[in-house]
Amino acid sequence: MRLHHVGIAVADLEAAQDRWARLGYRPKARGEVATQGVRVAMLAAPGGGPQLELLAPTGPDTPVGRFLAKRGEGLHHLAFAVPDVAKALAELRSAGVQLIDEAPRPGFGGHLVAFVHPSAFGGVLVELVQE
Ligand code: CO
Repeated sequence: MRLHHVGIAVADLEAAQDRWARLGYRPKARGEVATQGVRVAMLAAPGGGPQLELLAPTGPDTPVGRFLAKRGEGLHHLAFAVPDVAKALAELRSAGVQLIDEAPRPGFGGHLVAFVHPSAFGGVLVELVQE
């Protein structure tokens, strides 16, 4: 289990990319997860550490759109790499942890992902990513 990326909600993908370039983060991949109504830019860390995942909504009535309206730009989630998302979900479920996704689903870049409810981690939204 290691930190895979940090998700950051932004209003403007390009402006956010320029901001993080000042700290050496470089665009690695871009795309859209249509089912979640979000445009994504993955930024590689200068020293090879956890990536930054910039998330811009495609409209106001989307998960990230509602997040921005309520809380503004900023930290959105922490994502941890696990070898098997389904197994990790089963372990959390049996420990009584509240999940958002009951089963893994396709996320950005073709990875299987699942989200754990923020109530389980003191208000921090946690994503599991299968590599
Ligand atoms: Co993520």
